[in-house]
Amino acid sequence: MAFPASFLDELSARNPIEDVVGQYVSLTRKSSNLFGLCPFHSEKTGSFSVAPEKGIYYCFGCHKGGGVVNFIMEIENLDYPDAVRFLAKRANMEVPEDESYRNRYKSQERLKNLCLEAARFFRSQLTTPEAQVARDYLNKRGLSIDTVKKFGLGYAPNAWSALKDAMSAKGFSWEEMIEVGLAVKHPTKNSVYDYFRNRLMFPIIDVRGNVIGFGGRVLDDSKPKYLNSPETVIFNKRRNLFALNEAKKSKEKFIILTEGYMDAIALHQYGFDCAVASLGTAFTEEHAQLLAKYTEKVILTYDGDEAGQSATRRAIPMLEKAGLTVKVLQMQGAKDPDEFLKTYGPDAFRSLLNKSENQAEYHLRSIQKKYDLTKDDQRVAFLKEAAKFIATLRNAVEREIYGHRAAEAAGVNPETIKIEVDKAYRRQEEIRRKKQETQDLSATQSRQPAYRGIRYDNVRSAMAEEGLLRMLYQEPSLFTQVHLTQEQFSSSLLGRAYLAFRTQQEEGREVSFSSLGEEFTKDEIAHLSSVLQKNRESVSEQALQDYIMVIHAEYQKRLPSGEAQLRALQERKKNAKGYGG
Ligand code: GTP
Ligand code: MN
Repeated sequence: MAFPASFLDELSARNPIEDVVGQYVSLTRKSSNLFGLCPFHSEKTGSFSVAPEKGIYYCFGCHKGGGVVNFIMEIENLDYPDAVRFLAKRANMEVPEDESYRNRYKSQERLKNLCLEAARFFRSQLTTPEAQVARDYLNKRGLSIDTVKKFGLGYAPNAWSALKDAMSAKGFSWEEMIEVGLAVKHPTKNSVYDYFRNRLMFPIIDVRGNVIGFGGRVLDDSKPKYLNSPETVIFNKRRNLFALNEAKKSKEKFIILTEGYMDAIALHQYGFDCAVASLGTAFTEEHAQLLAKYTEKVILTYDGDEAGQSATRRAIPMLEKAGLTVKVLQMQGAKDPDEFLKTYGPDAFRSLLNKSENQAEYHLRSIQKKYDLTKDDQRVAFLKEAAKFIATLRNAVEREIYGHRAAEAAGVNPETIKIEVDKAYRRQEEIRRKKQETQDLSATQSRQPAYRGIRYDNVRSAMAEEGLLRMLYQEPSLFTQVHLTQEQFSSSLLGRAYLAFRTQQEEGREVSFSSLGEEFTKDEIAHLSSVLQKNRESVSEQALQDYIMVIHAEYQKRLPSGEAQLRALQERKKNAKGYGG
C-alpha cells in the first residue's frame, strides 16, 4: 500500500514534528534544536532532540530516530499505515485508501472485533449452569468478583463448537476464527472446532484496549496447564505484556514483572495494581522497551525455581539496556507471588518489595548460593568469583560495600577481599583501556553504524555519502548538481536513501522522512536520522564536489579492471560451452 505522495506531503506539513512530539515530551529550545527527556528509554538528563527544520527526532542515548511518522509508530506502537492514519486524524485529514489496503485494514479490525466478541462470549458463559466447575475453581483460587470483572475473565465451555457457533451467528467466518487462533481445522474432515475447551479464559488486552489473544487454564491437573493463543496478525507476544493496559494507569513508581497471569491478577487483587506478566514466552528486548515507556523501575518477581532464576538473569541486562532500574524480589516460603500473597498477605509482600535487591546484591547472592561456605576450599573459590564480579562495578563505594558483604559471608577480613577486588579491577581496567585504544585506532570501527545489520563496507566512501546526503537533505536544490547513480554508493542503505530523496525532489515534493516508513526498516530509519541530524558546516560548493569526487573514486576502485573484465568474459564463455556439451 502506498499513500499518494501529495497526501503524505500535506500530512507532514500539517503535523509539524515539534508539535506532535511536544504532546508527549516537554521540549526546551537550545539553539535551532529542541531537547527533552527521551520517551523511549528512561533518563534523567535530556538526550532526546528534535530538529524542526529537518523534520527529524533523534535520541543520543538510545539512538532511536526518524521523522514524524516514525515517532508515532514508535510511541503509539503502530505500524506505518496506522501511524499515518493516526496523524491524519490528528490533522483532520481524510485518508485516501487504496482497495487492497482498505481490505487489509478492515480485516484486521474484524479480527480484533472477533476477539472482543469471543471475550464477551466467554464472559457470558461464566454464569451458565455448566460453568459451575469454573466458578468453583475461581473460588478455590480466591479470585473476587471484582477481579473477575476487572480482567474480563471467562469460561470456554466443554464443547467442540460452542464458540464457533456463537461467532458464526455473529457473522464471522471459520477462516477468521482460525486466523486468530480461536478455532482449529480438523486434519481430515472439512470442519473446524474450538481451540479452547473447558478452560478458564484470560483475555489478553493491548495497551490501547484491544483484545488480541487469550490464555486458557485447565480447571484441574490435566495437561497442558495453560493454552495460549498462537502468534497471529494481531497478537505479537514479543511486544505485549499481560495486564499492562491496567498497570499503566497505576500511581506506583515501578512495575512488577511476574511470570504468570495468575500472579499478576492476584497482585492486582491485593492492591498492587502495577503488576504485569509476560505471555508464557521468554522476556524480550521489545518487552523491556515497552515497559520503559511507562516506568523507570521494574521489580522482578519470577518464580524461585531454577527456570525462574535463569529467566531473571536473562531479563536484567535487557531491562538495564532500556534504561530501567532493576530490582529483584526474593521470596521465601512460597513458589510465586500468588501463593505468597495467599499465605502471608499483602503487608508481607509490601515489605518484600521494599527489601527487593538491586542487581548487584542479587548477583552476589546468586554467586554465594553456589558455594558451601563452611568448607575452606569453597570459601576461597567463592571469594575469587565474588571479587571478580565486584570488580565489574564501576562505582568505588559500591565496590567497597559489596566487598564488605562478601567478606562477611565468607568470614574473612574485608582487607583480604579488597586486595582481590583491586587486582581484578586493575586487570579489567587494562582490558577496557586496550579495547578503547583499538577502537580509537581503527576509525573504521568507530564510524560503523550503531545498528544491527547495518555495516559500511567502504568507510571512506560512506563518510562522503553521509556528508552528501546531509547536504542534499538540507539543501535539495543541490540535486541538480549531483549526477551520481544509486549504484555508485558503496552503502546500499545510503544509496537507497539517496534515490528516495532524489525522487521526492524530482517529483516536486518536499524532501522529507515522511514517506520513507515502508521501504526502510526501523533501524535503517534510525540510522539515517542519526546521519542527517548532525549539524554540518555550512553548505559549500567545494565540500559538495569533494564528496562526489570521493564517491566516484571509490566506485572506480570497486569496478573490475579492464583485464579482470576480460578474464571474466572468457570464463563465462568457457562455462557456456561446457554446458552446451
Ligand atoms: P497457576 O498454576 O495457575 O498458579 O499458574 P502459574 O501462574 O503459577 O504458572 P506457572 O508458574 O506454572 O507458569 C507461568 C506461566 O507460564 C503461565 O502463566 C503461562 O503463561 C505459562 N505456562 C505454564 N504452563 C504452561 C503450559 O503448559 N503451556 C504453555 N504454553 N504455557 C504455560
Ligand atoms: Mn501459581
